[in-house]
Amino acid sequence: MTTTRHSRVGDATSPPHGERNTALVEELRTSGWVRTDRVAGALEAVPRGHFVPPELAAQAYANEVVFTKRDIDGTALSSVSAPWLVAGMLERLAPHEGDRVLEIGSGGWNAALLRHLVGTGGHVTSVDIDPDVVNRAVSALADTSWRDVHVVQGDGRDGYGDDAPYDGIMVTVQASRIERAWLDQLAPGGSLVVPLRVRGMGRLLTFTAENGHWRGGGWEQCGFVRMRGEGSAQDTGATFQVGDGVRLRVHDSPLPEASALTDAALHGRREMWSGVTVGVTERTRPLVDLWLATILDRYGRLLGDTAPSGGDVVPLSGGSSATWTGTTLAYVAMRAVDDSGTRFEYGVAWHGPDTELAEQVTDQLRAWDQQQRGGQGPSLMLYRDQAPSPSTTARVLGRGAPQLVLTWPR
Ligand SMILES: C[S@@+](CC[C@H](N)C(=O)[O-])C[C@H]1O[C@@H](n2cnc3c(N)ncnc32)[C@H](O)[C@@H]1O
Repeated sequence: MTTTRHSRVGDATSPPHGERNTALVEELRTSGWVRTDRVAGALEAVPRGHFVPPELAAQAYANEVVFTKRDIDGTALSSVSAPWLVAGMLERLAPHEGDRVLEIGSGGWNAALLRHLVGTGGHVTSVDIDPDVVNRAVSALADTSWRDVHVVQGDGRDGYGDDAPYDGIMVTVQASRIERAWLDQLAPGGSLVVPLRVRGMGRLLTFTAENGHWRGGGWEQCGFVRMRGEGSAQDTGATFQVGDGVRLRVHDSPLPEASALTDAALHGRREMWSGVTVGVTERTRPLVDLWLATILDRYGRLLGDTAPSGGDVVPLSGGSSATWTGTTLAYVAMRAVDDSGTRFEYGVAWHGPDTELAEQVTDQLRAWDQQQRGGQGPSLMLYRDQAPSPSTTARVLGRGAPQLVLTWPR
């Protein structure tokens, strides 16, 4: 068992942690991530710096993730999650005094926050697959008033049955599916907060109980370290190199032929514009991406390196929604419509002879504008087994059970 040395801070008020922590909580309030006094109080009481390894102490009170463990290839394996994200997840779960809560993916900080929120009458269990992380969390929680958090090593896909049922489950690692064990371990009326990969896009979702199933919502964009353990290989999706520094990531979709993509990329870029214009402050891209991801049968994310040299295949920064046929690759493009740089038009860039594909995506951009823009967004229902009978406009996400059914309002 390895142990990590931690700075000991006693309580929230001991300097220098106290002042820096208070400034962080203030920042989270001002930016709207913290909405309630309860969550603000928990963040005040549990200084993040206590859970960040001493060699990374300089990063402890920045509103950013602190990576604490990486794979030999540099892939992040564990972290102390970003404060804005932790605050947002706590606001969503909103645990009450006396609740029993399961955290999946440990580190100590969030478990201590949860423990503060549920109080001495409640109980927090935290499960992590990595023994180093478990030891680090146990060591950081020892000698604090949150030391009775039950930190266990195991695969969080199985939840942790021995301490169930839970009033809330908070998953702090990227999930590719909802596990049945989580639903089985939730108390009646319990809620689940989970960063779920929806056709390759990380979205933070909250599920609350409703007449024998769960209603999901939230859709905030987020990224977490990937889930490890058995079954993780099938979660990773497939990556296709399209050109130098440009690749297509495909999850939960029929796969393209690799050679068809590289052949398509040899065709010059053509563009088709939709007439749909948006202001940058509207933040429409996450919803437009979700619309296309749940409307198009063949869907992937086209991603470029910071300085891609894949010829004229140029995805948007942060990635473009993409689709393909046997000969053609099409993806979302944007262009400025005035000199202020604050208004843009959605369009489609495509490579290959299939102009119909570009037209189809352009039509869907217009359909989003006419039917969904400014609306309430899709409804999402989670069923432990099968959905009763999804309507014709519904889309089943992922494979098998539990089943997630998404429906856009018409
Ligand atoms: C983002 S970190 C958790 C951060 C933490 N909740 C905090 O307080 O900041 C994600 C953790 O999930 C763990 N993890 C990865 N796969 C897992 C699995 N299958 N079951 C449980 N934990 C897993 C990793 O080891 C990592 O420590």
